[in-house]
Amino acid sequence: GAPVEADIGKLEPGALLRVKWRGKPVWVVHRTPKMLEALPSNDPKLVDPSSEVPQQPEYCQNPSRSIKPEYLVAIGICTHLGCSPIYRPEFAPEDLGEDWKGGFFCPCHGSRFDLAARVFKNVPAPTNLVIPKHTYLNDTTLLVG
Ligand code: FES
Repeated sequence: GAPVEADIGKLEPGALLRVKWRGKPVWVVHRTPKMLEALPSNDPKLVDPSSEVPQQPEYCQNPSRSIKPEYLVAIGICTHLGCSPIYRPEFAPEDLGEDWKGGFFCPCHGSRFDLAARVFKNVPAPTNLVIPKHTYLNDTTLLVG
């Protein structure tokens, strides 16, 4: 499939934009400074905090799994059996308590991912979500693929 452009100029801090690429949902989340600051605190609870499994292009193997820290670009398909997780930026899935720093919750079998799309331990999904190949054409235009 051809690469797809997304206009992210109006994406508010904290909001999520969905685009379709090769028939797949791709999420773009405009992460706030607070969201970014919270990421390292999740590391001990994650399966692959340093993104050693190549679920992302090499240029996204970094703590925020991104080119620009303020934008997460991820394929919104659970690495367990392919459901689409739900964006939960603030309120925790019920069994998580007050420790939730925001992320995604898969309604099918309860897998959880943080705001860098990294999978938490003790859930069925084996790996972090996939970060697709992408680039920025200018400050407000993202090209996925
Ligand atoms: Fe997401 Fe099973 S498909 S937890």
